Amino acid sequence: MVLHVRINFMSEIVTLHDVVKTYKKGDQPVKALKNVSLTIAEGESVAIMGPSGSGKSTLLQLLGSLDKPTSGDIQIDGKSPQKLSDAERSKFRKNTIGFVFQQFYLQPFLSALDNVALPMRLNGMKAKPARAAASELLENVGLAAKTKHAPSELSGGEMQRVAIARAMANNPKILLADEPTGNLDRKNADSIVELFQKLRVDGTTVIVVTHDEKVANAFQRVIHIENGSLQPANINTQETAPVLEEMQA
Ligand SMILES: Nc1ncnc2c1ncn2[C@@H]1O[C@H](COP(=O)(O)OP(=O)(O)O)[C@@H](O)[C@H]1O
Ligand SMILES: [Mg+2]
Repeated sequence: MVLHVRINFMSEIVTLHDVVKTYKKGDQPVKALKNVSLTIAEGESVAIMGPSGSGKSTLLQLLGSLDKPTSGDIQIDGKSPQKLSDAERSKFRKNTIGFVFQQFYLQPFLSALDNVALPMRLNGMKAKPARAAASELLENVGLAAKTKHAPSELSGGEMQRVAIARAMANNPKILLADEPTGNLDRKNADSIVELFQKLRVDGTTVIVVTHDEKVANAFQRVIHIENGSLQPANINTQETAPVLEEMQA
């Protein structure tokens, strides 16, 4: 009988090592991220919280390979996006990462169905299979009845569902969302969180920036960022410090 089998479910999909991002604006550079190191396991769901201006969007843009770090190393799904050419990076992004934003950014003149089909069409898929896949994605987010609606005929919560369905087109391994519930009321925010949880169960790695404690608490891990630095995990140091000292003695 084999007893020493170690099953490792937790492979890393994101690794940041000593990442610095400095914006040069005028003659006063802004250090938006200061030596950030971070690993995220495949299939994990992570919320990033922090005050305005703390570097949350900058971090998300680097995770999504929309921008390059000033220094440090980033590995996403086994690749270093900063080492790819622009064309390779764009292809990598299309196939690996889905984005959701606070403002939805839907195409106003396209139906919900065509908004979701668009990334697949841009990725070379023919119209018919793209529309069939879009229809299924809209069904998954509870919008089977609204496929023909234009964004202006949808509520905020519904628009964000369309945006999430669109982000899941091309079947990305990683879903990134920047304040996805920022424009939604409590009820819609809660239902969007439920949707993210459903996606995670399907194996997608979900990383969400949020100001909303209730949203953050629905995620497996909450990362706090302040002034460009990740804060240590929330442990009650007053209680743990003496115990740790004793254990190390
Ligand atoms: N494109 C940019 N050019 C110059 N400064 C920027 C740029 N983007 C962000 N910053 C600055 O970097 C810091 C972090 O910004 P950001 O990542 O957007 O924070 P958050 O999303 O947490 O509000 C802020 O001081 C912001 O003003
Ligand atoms: Mg931001």
